[in-house]
Amino acid sequence: MSEDSSVLPLVVLISGNGSNLQAIIDEIQRAALSVKIELVISNRADAYGLKRARQANIDTAVLDHRDYPDRKKFDRALAELIDQFDRPLVVMAGFMRILSDEFVNRYHGRLINIHPSLLPKYRGLNTHQRVLAAGDKHHGASVHFVTPDLDAGPVILQGRVDVLAGDTEDSLRRRVHEMEHLIYPRVVRWFANHQVQLEGDSVLIAGLPITEDKRIFELTPNEPGNAG
Ligand code: GRF
Repeated sequence: MSEDSSVLPLVVLISGNGSNLQAIIDEIQRAALSVKIELVISNRADAYGLKRARQANIDTAVLDHRDYPDRKKFDRALAELIDQFDRPLVVMAGFMRILSDEFVNRYHGRLINIHPSLLPKYRGLNTHQRVLAAGDKHHGASVHFVTPDLDAGPVILQGRVDVLAGDTEDSLRRRVHEMEHLIYPRVVRWFANHQVQLEGDSVLIAGLPITEDKRIFELTPNEPGNAG
């Protein structure tokens, strides 16, 4: 539990590299984010993100889905770990598991994910490849509330990047990742400041519905990435 009740508790769910987790840790360490990561949970024991957490003195847990007979039982064990804390924000950061409706509904309004596309375009996997195949001019990442429909929950913030001539899947993935590292801590900060709410299907920021133009984040030469 947090010693300081004004600090928002976070539980972060990962399966792999954890660079988004790292972006949040970095912001906490430079005192730009007033949250406490209470626990990082991975469904894979070899996730590199677990090392990142330990290096930052954050508690970790491994919950291997293969040890559970079905999705519901795994999700219940996951919920038990999360519910040790006082209504934490649950942050999915590259967590490669589909969650049961029961789990998703339990954390309604406080379960968020980051997806590497400008939703509602390209739900699911292989987004960079699909963007290139379609010849899109823009690509990006979306932070959204998680609802029972995969990658279809209300979007909180999107980061847009241009698709450049000569881009490959790798170069796009790199640029989208950089954008993810800017927008995810920003959204977490909004939660820490009690600025985000989910009302029905609408996202409210500071009490007002978020409009399309405000939902898109783009780096301009005058805007330092981590401000806000
Ligand atoms: C990111 O591309 C995120 O959009 C997707 O999974 C990836 C996780 O990357 N959901 P990392 O583990 O945070 O480096």
